[in-house]
Amino acid sequence: DGDLFYLLMLILSPEEPSTIIQFTYTSNAQMYSLLKRTAAKCSHISQVYSIGRSTEGRDLLVIEFTDNPGQHELLEPEIKLVGNMHGNEVLGRQLLIYLAQYLCSEYILGNQRIQTLINTTRIHLLASMNPDGYELAAAEGHLFNGWISGRANAQNIDLNRNFPDLTSLFYRNRRSRHYRIDHIPIPDAYWFGKVAPETYAVMKWIRALPFVQSASLHGGELVISYPFDFSRDVHEEKMFSPTPDEQAFKQLARTYADAHATMSNNDTDRCGASFYRTRGIINGALWYSFAGGMSDFNYLHTNCLEITVELGCDKFPSEAELYPEWKRNKEALLSFMESVHRGIKGVVKDTDGNGIKGATISIRGIRKDVTTAEDGDYWRLLNPGTHIMTATAKGFSRVSKRVHLPHTMNKAGRVDFVLEKVGPVLHHPV
Ligand SMILES: *[C@@H]1O[C@H](CO)[C@@H](O)[C@H](O)[C@H]1NC(C)=O
Ligand SMILES: *[C@@H]1O[C@H](CO)[C@@H](O)[C@H](O)[C@H]1NC(C)=O
Ligand SMILES: [Zn+2]
Repeated sequence: DGDLFYLLMLILSPEEPSTIIQFTYTSNAQMYSLLKRTAAKCSHISQVYSIGRSTEGRDLLVIEFTDNPGQHELLEPEIKLVGNMHGNEVLGRQLLIYLAQYLCSEYILGNQRIQTLINTTRIHLLASMNPDGYELAAAEGHLFNGWISGRANAQNIDLNRNFPDLTSLFYRNRRSRHYRIDHIPIPDAYWFGKVAPETYAVMKWIRALPFVQSASLHGGELVISYPFDFSRDVHEEKMFSPTPDEQAFKQLARTYADAHATMSNNDTDRCGASFYRTRGIINGALWYSFAGGMSDFNYLHTNCLEITVELGCDKFPSEAELYPEWKRNKEALLSFMESVHRGIKGVVKDTDGNGIKGATISIRGIRKDVTTAEDGDYWRLLNPGTHIMTATAKGFSRVSKRVHLPHTMNKAGRVDFVLEKVGPVLHHPV
């Protein structure tokens, strides 16, 4: 009898105040109220907003952290972390709820690292993408929830198979010279299929904000996987299928795995599979191939690079594991968020100094462009080295620059472009 109750204090030193987080499971109602209370306590750096509703009408509630919540700031990168897409993979959901409380408290307590992160980044946390599935899994609980129950949404749709399959389109067209692989449109046929409201809400969200990087938190393994998740050979279920951004993805995956307490360890057998050769990271399709995933969609439809974080063998760990898991993942979550300040960012402007929206930034040797946001700002995750960058926009001249990105950079390099108007000059009769 008696609830296990973990009231833990992360004590910095005996005299200093500390963040108090209750490391228990959180029902949907408790999650909403906790996130709202956290945003209220930190209203100068936080707010909550809903991106839509689940099949059964539950809010898909996001908590946001940044120095000016509610707005995009020029050159400030935006990131998202998504938990509980599979309703029975519950650890990620809890970690994001703890992370929200941690960010709020530590900012108030004057933690310089957290303040710097929040002052320079716009962070969006969707703790539960599938609150209906969670409801089902939580009713069974840690001891009885199996591998499947609560995984899908209330319409029995697996949300990580429900996104438009742009990867097939990419494979079909990649050999044609002028095929652009950024912002591949959603084919009409997709809308004839069943689109879950959760998928729809997330797609709208992904399209609305200029996300640079993202993590989707899952369970059932201990590994980071990264796109493509869909194999480049339909007959091969396990086949290395890299994106043009293989290097940047690997670096992003390494960032999480290396900062995690055990993920990159050299143990050969964890949950069945073995990832010791690559120290805890793997290309998605090489692990197992599937179509319609969220990460491939992020990559081919937007500028955003998303990794999949498999947090552990147990999809529904016991409550006693929640605090140890927070400790194992805390540094990894922070390092992952900080890593968005890598590569190159800048603004593309016209000669009058106005930002150009939708301009294209390409990197020689990487066949995936990024486009500028509303005010002409862009972010390009890139590994150190020398790069030839080109900015183009419709109706403007193109400009190329040779850029050296040193290994020692601890923030994104800044490269701006000024483009001149070109094209036919139209003479209107007076
Ligand atoms: C973060 O921004 C706030 C508000 O502008 C400022 O008071 C604080 O000193 C900043 N913290 C750091 C570490 O830059
Ligand atoms: C990692 O484990 C494998 C298999 O047990 C072993 O062959 C290899 O030497 C180990 N590597 C290191 C760096 O310990
Ligand atoms: Zn999953």
